[in-house]
Amino acid sequence: MRKKMVVANWKMNFNVPESLVHFDKIALLAEDYDGVDVVVCPTFLALFGLWVRSKGRVKLGAQDCNSKDAGALTGEVSAAMLENVAEYVIVGHSERRKFFHETDAEVNRKVIASLKHGLKPIICIGETLNDKQEQRTDQVIRSQLDGALLAVQPDVVINTTIAYEPVWAIGSGQTPTATDLAKVIEIIHSQFDFMYGGDFQPSVLYGGSVDDNNVENFLAVEGVDGFLVGGASLNSKKFDTIIRKVKESGV
Ligand code: 13P
Repeated sequence: MRKKMVVANWKMNFNVPESLVHFDKIALLAEDYDGVDVVVCPTFLALFGLWVRSKGRVKLGAQDCNSKDAGALTGEVSAAMLENVAEYVIVGHSERRKFFHETDAEVNRKVIASLKHGLKPIICIGETLNDKQEQRTDQVIRSQLDGALLAVQPDVVINTTIAYEPVWAIGSGQTPTATDLAKVIEIIHSQFDFMYGGDFQPSVLYGGSVDDNNVENFLAVEGVDGFLVGGASLNSKKFDTIIRKVKESGV
């Protein structure tokens, strides 16, 4: 049974006091979220403060990590440092790939480092508008998975989650059709079959302009196990509605 999951990626929003207030609102609403794993990924700065008050009802994730354990890397936070304060870590987000020039090889190092330190990587993949227009989605998805999971052994790959986030859908209000989304999810599972011989299938989250009004459209798509939510996760009411709809849908 794959898990139902809703992940909030707060990106570069909320200072520490704001993060605490917003998190408390979600934690309060989370009383009856059973059956859905809810994960909040705040700024690194707020992780420890949230961890202290989380009591496990809402899980915590980091938005990124460095693959080296320690060293002269000004401004970076390693997977080793996140051990114990985060359960999940987002890796390979398209904003990291685009603005910080992260390659599949770097994403792979981050996946390996996070697994080594007991973190569960949420690996983001997705095609650009250009890839889509040139009908390269299949190829891009397969090669991003191949690259991210290079040398990741079957005994640890079970701790990974895949987030399909078409780059053109992020923050744009545009979303894939149900048919296109279902097709990509099938590609993801077929690539896992190819790489892991059918032994493991990950939970697949959809991300890209998900909100409280359109979430049903994606829930109706075969194979969607949950969501990675950006903008709408900054509003606790919207985020709560998304989680409740996932819970009610019995995905
Ligand atoms: P939006 O929900 O704002 O489109 O962002 C999606 C995203 O990038 C989550 O990681």
